[in-house]
Amino acid sequence: METSTLKSIAYQLMQGSKGLLAMDESTATCNKRFAELGIPQTEEYRRKYRDLIVNAPGLGDYISGAILFDETIKQSTADGTLFVDILKRNGIIPGIKVDEGAIPMLGFPGEKITEGLDGLGERLKAYYNLGARFAKWRAVITIGTEIPSTACIKANAYTLARYAMFCQEAGLVPIVEPEVVMDGRHSLARCAEVTTEVLHAVFNALYQHRVDMECMILKPNMVLPGEGSAEKPGADEIAEATIKCFLRTVPATVPGIAFLSGGQSPQLASERLNRMHTQFGEVMPWVLTFSFSRAVQQPALELWQGKDENIVAAQKALVHRAACNSAAKMGQYSSEMETV
Ligand code: 13P
Repeated sequence: METSTLKSIAYQLMQGSKGLLAMDESTATCNKRFAELGIPQTEEYRRKYRDLIVNAPGLGDYISGAILFDETIKQSTADGTLFVDILKRNGIIPGIKVDEGAIPMLGFPGEKITEGLDGLGERLKAYYNLGARFAKWRAVITIGTEIPSTACIKANAYTLARYAMFCQEAGLVPIVEPEVVMDGRHSLARCAEVTTEVLHAVFNALYQHRVDMECMILKPNMVLPGEGSAEKPGADEIAEATIKCFLRTVPATVPGIAFLSGGQSPQLASERLNRMHTQFGEVMPWVLTFSFSRAVQQPALELWQGKDENIVAAQKALVHRAACNSAAKMGQYSSEMETV
């Protein structure tokens, strides 16, 4: 694949005030979210929900790329138009989650390794033919007593690098997602330490595997204390810890960093992204944006409840969150945006 084509896709994904929408929940995760709200857990309801998202008026004003799941990339609206074609019509580049989930890592209690390298080359070719131009692979790193282990960090970093190489070969921009999860009671400082170690390992592996770092996007966690921690740092402290960590670990040649939300509330995720831009906008060499799932979708899902009469309200809530995060990318978000 021509490097210039991959660079141009990465550039388009990171353009202007836009970010990415992660709508790639696996069937199990999507069903879990539906079950919490009493929505039927069937293929048709998952299709209806994704139909609502891709057809939300104005979504393309704020979203440059949408990450889909295997089931979704093949689905269509009620009138038979493929979701992929609707996205493209709205200026949104289709992407695809290609990992096959994180499983317990044998011999390392409490740690996980992500699967999905077998047959990846062939799957990527098929996804390219379905219209995908970028891909995503998520590795999960957990903080706890004596974890993460070096073995877990290295195994996940190498797997991410092998995946990224397959993607670039197949003409898809890899989104490399090493997520240090919020579960646990660790401090902000401990999250900073682990995220730094993980990112060093990931970029070292990418380098060793000859991945072109100008043709990829990093999807990291923000540096945050564990959700069970008593520490409640403000947005300033979080912005400083996060950007300092990235300045030390992420090469300036990487075109973009797009955050996962990881269980933060939608408002906090927007506020923190905004603060990173207002405090550090001048010194960041990469584009810094969002690739949220829950922090963009959750309010819309709660409004929808699986009912057709709620579709318009749900679409408005979805586009509102996309607009808030787009403003945050420009350092122009304020809590007043939440009251309109
Ligand atoms: P959240 O924003 O809900 O963390 O999801 C992002 C994602 O794509 C996880 O892989």
